[in-house]
Order: sequence, then structure tokens, then C-alpha cells
Amino acid sequence: MAAPVPDFALSADHLGKVYPHSKGATPALDDLTLQVPKGRVYGLIGRNGAGKTTFVRIAATQLALTSGRLEVLGMDVTSRTSEIRARIACVPQEARPLYFLRTQEVVYLYLKMRGMEPAEARRRTKEALEELSLTEYAKRLVSRLSGGLRRRILCAMVLASDAEVLFLDEPTTGLDPIARREVWQAVRRTIRENRTILLTTHYLDEAEALSSRLALVEKGRLRLEGTPEDLRARVRYPYRVMVEEPFPREELAPYGRVAEVEGGYLVFAREEDARDLARKALEQGVRVSMGPVSLEDIFLEVVGSSIEADAPLESEEEG
Ligand SMILES: Nc1ncnc2c1ncn2[C@@H]1O[C@H](COP(=O)(O)OP(=O)(O)OP(=O)(O)O)[C@@H](O)[C@H]1O
Ligand SMILES: [Mg+2]
Repeated sequence: MAAPVPDFALSADHLGKVYPHSKGATPALDDLTLQVPKGRVYGLIGRNGAGKTTFVRIAATQLALTSGRLEVLGMDVTSRTSEIRARIACVPQEARPLYFLRTQEVVYLYLKMRGMEPAEARRRTKEALEELSLTEYAKRLVSRLSGGLRRRILCAMVLASDAEVLFLDEPTTGLDPIARREVWQAVRRTIRENRTILLTTHYLDEAEALSSRLALVEKGRLRLEGTPEDLRARVRYPYRVMVEEPFPREELAPYGRVAEVEGGYLVFAREEDARDLARKALEQGVRVSMGPVSLEDIFLEVVGSSIEADAPLESEEEG
């Protein structure tokens, strides 16, 4: 009888990480429990130092965990490292492809090293270079390419592979807007092949466009987790209303949180209040637009409010 197929690509259970020589510091990962479904993009977001790369490195078997458990494709990362490695691929946050090779050699050799047949590796290399608009650089030495092009080569390598789980740690940082969208297309193609991608990014439009679930990590802890709709449902003000001047500022406060922006005000509000405000603005002949909050709005509300909550403690310590 065939072994049961695990439902999750990744499953973290009370995962903890404390780096050596970091006594007294907050753990890099603190009691993190989450599941990454197969065949989707899972977005991992959070401020600098939140623990995203630490999570990726543990899951990609590059770093040992301190406590808890982590399974990749149903296998324990601590005991089944080499089996996992054969089935995953990773674009690390700070890696660069080998300088002394040519673009097409880097991709081809990576696929060969993973055990791909030469003909298949050649075909996939050609397709990946086309997909990320790297064909014109195929025969150029990596050492003579720009930083963004080198980053694109790393993306091409991993997205051309046949790995079942792909870790992309800020894959599009430093890429131009067109190249970024080419990576998005390649990510979507990979998902159609029923593979799983764990994506970390500071571009929240990117996280929102690609991820079917997201985890917001803060100081090593899970702050919010779920589909974009789940996240929206968890914030106090799930709607944003843009009211243009000359709407009277003093009438806005009862509707929600008000931010002054160029040419008017941005009001974060509950659905009912958002509708009332939009109606009132229209009656007064003021231009108004309304919609659900973006992932960036959610991030700023959740992380921003916890920074505010932290503030008095710090000032108490000082005094
Ligand atoms: N090799 C290391 N040794 C000691 N501490 C580390 C090491 N790498 C990371 N840390 C610490 O672990 C915490 C989490 O870092 P991590 O790199 O996982 O954050 P991140 O969410 O990826 O941040 P960024 O968005 O800046 O990439 C930080 O406090 C960081 O200082
Ligand atoms: Mg990182």
C-alpha cells in the first residue's frame, strides 16, 4: 500500500531558533506554528529582523532549529536532510551565482547537479532564460553582469528546476519593474505545475498578488496568518476611503482613523462607516473613492500599532 501523501509542503510545530552567542536577545523564531499547503504560493512578510530568513534557512536544511519541529513534504528537517534537499530549491537572500561562468552554464550546471538529464537540462535552461529575458546574456560571463541580472539568473536556476518546494527569499529585490513581473509570471507557471513556493518579500503588492496565504511575523512570532481575506477580517478597519479636499477635516474623526495625504484625507473605517462617509462626500460634491484595505495598510496597522504599544515601555526604561 502506498504511504499516505502529506497535505502540507511545510508544517512547523512550535518552532524556535536561538542563534549561538545571542544570549539575552529575543529568539529569532519563537514558538512558530504554521502550515503551508501544497501547490500554492505562501507569503512570509515582516519587518527587517523578524525571522523570515531564519525560517527559510531552517526549512531549506541550511540551519539547525533550536526547539519544536519542522517537516518538509512530511519529512523531519533534522533527520531526513538529504531526502529533503533532493526535492527543494532555494534562492537565498544574499547569494550570487558563480562569477567565472556564463549565464547559460550557471543554469545548466545547476540543473545537471540536481540530477537532470542533459537534454532536459538544456531545454529547461533555454526556456528559463527566455522566461526571464536573459537570452541576450546567455553567453556573457556572470562577472560582467549587473547586480539585478545576477539576481535574475538565480531566480532562473531555481524556477527551471523540478524541485517540489521552492524557497524564494526576497527574489525580486533589486529587480526592475519589468523583470519583477517576469518573475511573477514564472512563479505562477511554477504553481500551475502544482509545486509550492515559500516567498518572502518586502514588496507587499507582490506578496498580495502572488500569495494564497500569508504569515506576518514579528520578532520571531506569528502575528497574523491566513488568506488575504482572513487578514483583512482581522484588522479593526478593513476599508479605506479617499476623500478629496475640501471635505471638512473635523467631520472625519467619527468614521475611523484619518491620515492626511496629498490632496485630501485617507480614512480607514469599518464597512458601514466607509459607506456612510462615501455617501456623505458624494452628497457634498466631493470626489471620493472606496475599497478594501491593501496588504500594506494591514501591515502598517498591525505592526505600526504594536510599535506604538512598545513605545511607553522604552521611555519608562529611559526615565
Ligand atoms: N547568523 C546569525 N547570528 C546571530 N543572529 C542572527 C543571525 N542571523 C540572523 N540573526 C538574528 O535573527 C533575527 C532574525 O533575522 P532574519 O535574518 O531571520 O530576519 P529577516 O526577517 O529575514 O529580516 P530581513 O527582512 O532584514 O531580511 C534578527 O534579530 C537577526 O539579528
Ligand atoms: Mg531576510
